[in-house]
Amino acid sequence: MSHIRGRFSKPADKVVAQYTASLPFDHRLYRQDIVGSTAHARMLAKQGIIADEEATKIIDGLKSIQQEIEQGKFKFEAELEDIHMAIESRLIEKVGEVGRKLHTARSRNDQVALDMRLFTKEAIADTLNGIREFQRALLDLAEANKDAVMPGYTHLQVAQPVLLAHHLLAYFEMLQRDVERFNDCLKRVDVMPLGSGALAGVAYDVDREFLARELGFSNVSQNSLDAVADRDFVLEYEAAASICMMHLSRLAEEIVLWSSAEFDFIELDEAYATGSSIMPQKKNPDVAELARGKTGRVYGSLMALLTTMKGLPLAYNRDMQEDKQGFFDTVDTLLSTLEVFAGMVGTLKVKAENTARAAGRGYMLATDLADYLVKKGEAFRTAHDIVGRLVSYAAERGKSFAELSINEYKKFSPLFGDDVRKISVESSLAARDVVGGTAPKRVKQALAEARKIVVGG
Ligand code: ARG
Repeated sequence: MSHIRGRFSKPADKVVAQYTASLPFDHRLYRQDIVGSTAHARMLAKQGIIADEEATKIIDGLKSIQQEIEQGKFKFEAELEDIHMAIESRLIEKVGEVGRKLHTARSRNDQVALDMRLFTKEAIADTLNGIREFQRALLDLAEANKDAVMPGYTHLQVAQPVLLAHHLLAYFEMLQRDVERFNDCLKRVDVMPLGSGALAGVAYDVDREFLARELGFSNVSQNSLDAVADRDFVLEYEAAASICMMHLSRLAEEIVLWSSAEFDFIELDEAYATGSSIMPQKKNPDVAELARGKTGRVYGSLMALLTTMKGLPLAYNRDMQEDKQGFFDTVDTLLSTLEVFAGMVGTLKVKAENTARAAGRGYMLATDLADYLVKKGEAFRTAHDIVGRLVSYAAERGKSFAELSINEYKKFSPLFGDDVRKISVESSLAARDVVGGTAPKRVKQALAEARKIVVGG
């Protein structure tokens, strides 16, 4: 039985009640709802809008409802529509008439905006922790394999050798920008909407600053219509989550490739791989594949809510109730992906002999040969052409650079001398001695800087 059927003489149709209910999914907001209502009751008493004893009864009632929910004793009845109605009607059942005063100077519109903001703030804190843990795992792996060399790729074609640690630190950087995005989003989530009422503000002498302090918000909203009508803070979380999942999905793709027989760069721990029900030899990278797959669902939720919001006139519209399922799913998906990735990356073994062997293949030092000619006075474009012809000559004969004689080199440029033999994977790495480059000493510094960041919190 819903208790807001004031002007209606009959209950909503059963199917309608089911169709419009959000309780099956917004029960997740119970804690935020109770925290918000508790602060609201306290504020009403402080302002003399309700009596102190009334606030005390309401707050005690809310506390015991929280216990009922947490002990699994609370009956979530879909006819109660949403978590706000479910808790309020139980409160009235428990404390009687005084419970009917809680909703003074408040609407479900500012109430749900508050609950969602409280939820999002917690989600951001959890997400930041999850990213940190994952960054630590990346760094541990990079440090444990700090000398490992691998091919760097463009177009998935071998390009130039890089340190594996350098490759892993690229992901560290991406995740660091994700940290910044979530922190930035937090500034705009951190706004307290109570006092906006249904849309126009409330006709009571409320203390919004008090509510903000009680509830841990830095600011109060400045326009009541806006405060109840926008969900851009949810969109911002979803956008940041989509970008973060995109980063994780790219690493997932590399893990899938690297664990294939063709690459054979890594071995996943058995706890992070699965077998095949038919092919006994299989060890599949399902965790990485699922992360790649779930990324699509996270993008979907962002698109869904953008689309839901785009045509809504001010202020609150019921369409906005559709913000929740996709958002909760996004938070759950991102947090679980970060957690499982920290474990997967923390336990995988790098096959450094294989990555080094791969780094020595495929004329990967061609750029270094061109750079060699440039240092002897050749123009880079010309050097590029010369080495291009040298590569095709060697490839036709099935020879590596090392297998060519100095005389063969000299056919392509008189500038080639014996010292061309000094060009190696090691010299190639060491030469890239710029900020952000893969030279071992630069990577060592970058690892130390990254470590400072994750130690700092
Ligand atoms: N369940 C609703 C939501 O999630 C709460 C706000 C309902 N407000 C209203 N006027 N029907 O959006």
